[in-house]
Amino acid sequence: MKFEFQNPTHLVFGAGTLSKLGEVVSSYGKKALLVTGSGSVKRNGTFERAISSLKAAGVSVAECSGVEPNPRLSTVERGAAIARKEGCDVVVALGGGSAMDAAKVMAAALFYDGELWNMMAGQENRKLPSQALPVVTVPTLAATGSEMNSGAVITNEKTAIKSFVTAKCLYPKTAIVDPELTASVPPDQTAYGICDLITHVTESYFNGVDGTPLQDRFAEGVILTAMEWGPRAVADGNDIEARSQVQWASVAALNGWVQVGTASPFPVHMIEHTLSAHHDIPHGAGLAVVNPAWMRFASRIRPERFATFASRIFGIPMQNPEDARAAAEGIDRFEAFLRSIGCPTRLSETGIGEKLLERYATDTLLVARDSEGRLPGRPPMSKEDIADVLRSAL
Ligand code: NZQ
Ligand code: ZN
Repeated sequence: MKFEFQNPTHLVFGAGTLSKLGEVVSSYGKKALLVTGSGSVKRNGTFERAISSLKAAGVSVAECSGVEPNPRLSTVERGAAIARKEGCDVVVALGGGSAMDAAKVMAAALFYDGELWNMMAGQENRKLPSQALPVVTVPTLAATGSEMNSGAVITNEKTAIKSFVTAKCLYPKTAIVDPELTASVPPDQTAYGICDLITHVTESYFNGVDGTPLQDRFAEGVILTAMEWGPRAVADGNDIEARSQVQWASVAALNGWVQVGTASPFPVHMIEHTLSAHHDIPHGAGLAVVNPAWMRFASRIRPERFATFASRIFGIPMQNPEDARAAAEGIDRFEAFLRSIGCPTRLSETGIGEKLLERYATDTLLVARDSEGRLPGRPPMSKEDIADVLRSAL
């Protein structure tokens, strides 16, 4: 293990912390671009509370509402144009991962020369952004961890490619994480968020380098916590204790701490992004289909890793360290958990058929590929491997 680590985002966590929004934002600017999704924050009153807190602190607001799930490049451009026209000096994201991701790229767009899409992974002449307006994130859904990381995932609707950017300047200055704001998230989106946060740590658990025992335990802690509290949050959205534990798990799952030193690629994410790019399915629902199918594929090559997972997460006894039967049972149990909270686990449940399997594989490799043209991971995947994994999930 050899690494450097810095996550500069100031985290304000806890029920009721939305009231601090104005005070926090006023330390970064006087005019905020307020970025929101398709309307949930207006329906549940969060928007009004945010506006009053901002106004009370002397911050005026320009609005960019209507960021769709799986946010589009044109939406980012629209928001950046509003920020430019209105002279915004700070960006506030109030919503799920989609609003937060779009907000981050809008903040960087103001300083970016050339086509915005050039900052995304997979571009030949890729140029990362180096400057952005200060961003304050207020997640209303526990899932992506975008509130406290430097990543953003955007879809180019012209090509149906979904890609990502990570850059230092995209770290939010402050994340105000108020679990009460997630009380109105419906059971299905709650479950998809739980699947997403678990998948953030299974990626590094299964694809990271060997010899990271502390990171393994962090990942197992996130998974066990999500499996303990997640079903309670799904069953009763107003259970604020469950909402809090799930949301803290989602922040911890992808603020970099669990992945530090693992040098892990995210193959399951890369494959899912292609599905949500083509079919606009919720990211976490796509992961619930792809992750178990990918696990079955990867466990054939590294049964010992999956047997350890089975033993530590589900208490399944191992007959030997490479116990393929234990490995398989662990994956079955994991898939059954996802199903029990309401996630789909077959492509057909998301309305996706076999017609475009090769295309999904090709598109995935356009975003992430090694020097031999394979999708990075353990093991690296050829185009055929990706299509086979998806076929096995039909
Ligand atoms: O748009 P609104 O009306 O707000 O409704 C949303 C949307 O329909 C709704 N919702 C959010 N908060 C709510 C609520 N409904 C009721 N009450 C609330 N409090 O939930 C739906 C999904 O929202 P979205 O923001 O799309 O979900 P999520 O947070 O799962 O974000 C998904 C996006 O993030 C990307 C995904 O690829 C996808 O585009 N990701 C970003 C990452 C990052 N930046 O680090 C990492 C992830 O792996 C992921 O790829
Ligand atoms: Zn994810």
